[in-house]
Amino acid sequence: MRFDKRMTDLNALFKFTYGLYVVGVKDGEKFGGCVVDAVMQTTVEPPTLVLCCGKKTRTRELLLENKAFSLSVLPDDVDTEIIKNFGFQSARTADKWAAVKHRLRNGLPVLDDAAAWVVCDITDWRELSTHTLFFATIVDAENGAKKPLSYTDYRERKTKGGKTMKYQWVCKVCGYVYDGDTPFEELPDDYVCPVCGVSKADFEKVEVKEK
Ligand SMILES: Cc1cc2nc3c(=O)[nH]c(=O)nc-3n(C[C@H](O)[C@H](O)[C@H](O)COP(=O)(O)O)c2cc1C
Repeated sequence: MRFDKRMTDLNALFKFTYGLYVVGVKDGEKFGGCVVDAVMQTTVEPPTLVLCCGKKTRTRELLLENKAFSLSVLPDDVDTEIIKNFGFQSARTADKWAAVKHRLRNGLPVLDDAAAWVVCDITDWRELSTHTLFFATIVDAENGAKKPLSYTDYRERKTKGGKTMKYQWVCKVCGYVYDGDTPFEELPDDYVCPVCGVSKADFEKVEVKEK
């Protein structure tokens, strides 16, 4: 079979269900890591998983160097800033854990806000074309009370238009519901409510019940 890009709709892959995780890995005296969705449990005994990491990432270099990592399962109410911090910049230029609330488990950082977390030792890896597939054994884990965020829910949260959004930003003073194209979190600090003029800080994030 030959792969023909013109005939193949890779959007089908967005219907595969994944969670979202933050990897934590040692980087000298500090820590690195990034957002990943490509994680899959493999055997039950021993408890193992595979993690697929892009070859250009700093995280991959650090995983190869340290052979151990933590994985924090992102909760469904995760602050978008966490995803931006870990997923849209590199630890080559940013100290990603510096301003994020976390604790150390087995010497590795896990998010205070995680729905659950695991710490893993890397037992093997395999180089693929664009990614490295890491095989890992779980050495410590804790389950939390929060629900996990799925990749699909994360994508829907980013979709504008109200119907598929899981959250809306509502003015606490007059009830105006923000409906602009720019994600509310990315509006400038001097944004004001167009109806009553109060500041951005006077908006609250409200969960939208799905119809
Ligand atoms: C929603 C989302 C899912 C991602 N999934 C993966 C993934 O499964 N594997 C991966 O290597 N990178 C993934 N990334 C990209 C990395 O998080 C991103 O390249 C990061 O900036 C790498 O940082 P680093 O250079 O510090 O490792 C994802 C990013 C986002 C926002």
